[in-house]
Amino acid sequence: MHKPAPASFILIKTVIIRHTPSSEYSPMAIIPFHKPLLTGNEYPYLEQACACGTFSDDGQFQRSCRQILQNITGCSQVLLTPSCTAALEMAALLADIRPGDEVIMPSFTFPSSANAFVLRGARPVFIDIRPDTLNMDERLIESAISSRTRAIVPVHYAGSACEMDTIMEIAGRHRLLVIEDAAQCIGATYKGRPLGTIGHLGTYSFHSTKNIHCGEGGALLINDERFMQRSLIIQNKGTNRHDFITGQVPFYHWTDIGSSYVPSELTCAFLLAQLQHLTMITESRLSSWARYHELLIPATSTGLLRISQPRTDSLHNGHIFPAIFASPKDRQMVQDAMSARGIQTASHYRPLHQSPAGARFALSASQDLRHTQNTADTLLRLPIWHGSPVDEIGNALLNILFDLHAKRMIRTTE
Ligand SMILES: Cc1ncc(COP(=O)(O)O)c(C=O)c1O
Repeated sequence: MHKPAPASFILIKTVIIRHTPSSEYSPMAIIPFHKPLLTGNEYPYLEQACACGTFSDDGQFQRSCRQILQNITGCSQVLLTPSCTAALEMAALLADIRPGDEVIMPSFTFPSSANAFVLRGARPVFIDIRPDTLNMDERLIESAISSRTRAIVPVHYAGSACEMDTIMEIAGRHRLLVIEDAAQCIGATYKGRPLGTIGHLGTYSFHSTKNIHCGEGGALLINDERFMQRSLIIQNKGTNRHDFITGQVPFYHWTDIGSSYVPSELTCAFLLAQLQHLTMITESRLSSWARYHELLIPATSTGLLRISQPRTDSLHNGHIFPAIFASPKDRQMVQDAMSARGIQTASHYRPLHQSPAGARFALSASQDLRHTQNTADTLLRLPIWHGSPVDEIGNALLNILFDLHAKRMIRTTE
């Protein structure tokens, strides 16, 4: 005999009947995992930039973007960069990271978080993440610190804040620098403070997958006065060109190490069109995120699905909606079933400590990184771009979970 369905199960069934007639799943109507938004002002601004004739650095569009970012974040020196990767590399140069230094970071992140420091000869020290926020577990930092540790790199996953008070307190006590990898975080805050402005340095990404984008782009937030002057030199190929442009010196020359970390004016023209719509874009993402949450939360009682929990005292920006399944096999099954319905989903980072470069360059992890491993193996990102059909996607997932749940119930009662 079959057991009666739990309340959550009935709720799932109700939602499905109300929202998703199976005829909606046309094989031609593919819902992509991501669709970069165009706000409408990109073309006119690109035309203006061309007409104006300034194509490289220090044009009007770059100044406007920097001004908006400074207003949004309250950070007095925001530098635009060709990518977040470039901003992280600048941060490693500013932090004067040297061969043999150690830098603490999560393994559940993008390779750039580690590469920037490995390029300077440092060794990443990976710690595990928390299963609730999917961010570095601040309780594990202290035991990873050694006499060689120079910096901590909190990565705010999905635009959702790390426990920054604790991280800053530990860093202060051990005289370490904090470089926030806030690649996914524009518009998000920690206890009212914009992410990227709490550590000594912070970085944003404007890659086409991000909430605000310009194809490829990024920003470095300088929150510590010590780094302000040198950051301009490192950004400008190791020269004091900035002083020359602002009329402070009659010529410029090579004064320090540096590289080419300036985006073109065309990139900035595109970016300005996006930044001017930050509020609308963030609200749209948050409303999609909230709708997914509302639809899917009843299914979590089946044990088949888990949803990460952003901090309640902080604001995330709806950058990612991570659905976490009970096993890698379940995730694969769900991803295939979503794909069969024309809905593209995506897993995310492979743990850096298990990657070939991680094995080569990182200090071998003394800690058990089990939440990193489990999350990497079971997390699936749902489409959450501006205008994505969230009800259709959420209900498709509920349908799949409903079938899976029913199969398991039958199996356990046979
Ligand atoms: C956490 C994190 N850091 C850094 C990056 C690199 O950003 P970019 O592509 O702008 O260099 C990414 C890319 O998605 C990321 O997820």
